[in-house]
Amino acid sequence: MCPSNSPQKDHWHEFLTDLPKCEHHIHLEGCLTPSLIFHLSQKNSIPLPSPTTNPAYTSIESLSARYGHFTSLDDFLSFYFTGMTVLKTASDFSDLAFSYFARASSEGVHHAEVFFDPQDHMQRGIAYDTIVSGYVDGCKRAERELGVSTRLIMCFLKHLPVESAEALYKTSLEAGHLSKNPETGDSPIIHGLGCSSSEVGPPKDMFRSIYASASARGINLTAHAGEEGDSSYIETALSIGATRIDHGIALASDPALMARVAAEKILLTVCPVSNVQLKCVERISEVPIRTFLDHGVRFSINSDDPAYFGAWVLECYCRVQEAFGLSVDEWRVIAENSVEGSWVGVERKRELVGRIGEVVERFRGVLEG
Ligand code: HPA
Ligand code: ZN
Repeated sequence: MCPSNSPQKDHWHEFLTDLPKCEHHIHLEGCLTPSLIFHLSQKNSIPLPSPTTNPAYTSIESLSARYGHFTSLDDFLSFYFTGMTVLKTASDFSDLAFSYFARASSEGVHHAEVFFDPQDHMQRGIAYDTIVSGYVDGCKRAERELGVSTRLIMCFLKHLPVESAEALYKTSLEAGHLSKNPETGDSPIIHGLGCSSSEVGPPKDMFRSIYASASARGINLTAHAGEEGDSSYIETALSIGATRIDHGIALASDPALMARVAAEKILLTVCPVSNVQLKCVERISEVPIRTFLDHGVRFSINSDDPAYFGAWVLECYCRVQEAFGLSVDEWRVIAENSVEGSWVGVERKRELVGRIGEVVERFRGVLEG
């Protein structure tokens, strides 16, 4: 899988497996595999679309096959929002989250900041507390059993009315989930806010007032931007208070904005396989990894919706290596920037950077010899 025609192939695969990774762009609902969708549909008596209206839902195999032919972000989203309707109980949410963390940990992820989308679940009658308590439980279990540090990022959906996002924001604030625990000083239950779903169409700044309020409260803010849309979507996201950009590949076509993003050390959470699967680019080599490295833009490499795009995080790393043939030191920069751009304290950052140094030194001779 890693640099396929190199005699060092196995060593590169081992190196990229062992390299301590942070994943910042992963939708927990995007970890629902076709087999889990069919299983939960039966368990929870929640029907999937009839195969007569959508033949993709005939079987696990036909659904998996359809996932290989997304034509756009919106085409993918129609399957994504249908798939997630089978989640019902707190343990469904907890198990889904833990299964992601277990897979990610086995692929060398030490820290994960994960998105979840309450609005769609709440619209079909699932209580906010069921969703959040389930996901929090999955995170705590991962911290305890796998040693992975975790962060939850709640996403607002751009295809729904802004009032729906405002109601969700108010619910989270009132539950005390967006602020530090005043007694223990522990970090918030929900560590950041983001926004996702259709990019081109809804107003670019539709969450301006929520982001202004959250920013004033010191809440971490990110936003999907510059995936299908041009660099003006990134500019708007930054202007309303985002301090991180999810995807952001359109940045490469705007040198002035790229210089600003590099200078301000804004992290882009790049998802190369997702970009190919959703036809934002034709091949991985068109994702501006080289440009970002050369211009000092901080980025991490992520899987986005691995159950839909067929590649979990390690494969995303390997496909980047196949396409770009990066050096060990370039990987060190990517891994360290991923740590620096994470929403964790200095102690955890120092620990993770130390682990990266150990792995780099262990492999340097083998890979560069
Ligand atoms: N873009 C926008 N919304 C999403 C995505 C994405 O890649 N994945 C899940 N929701
Ligand atoms: Zn995404």
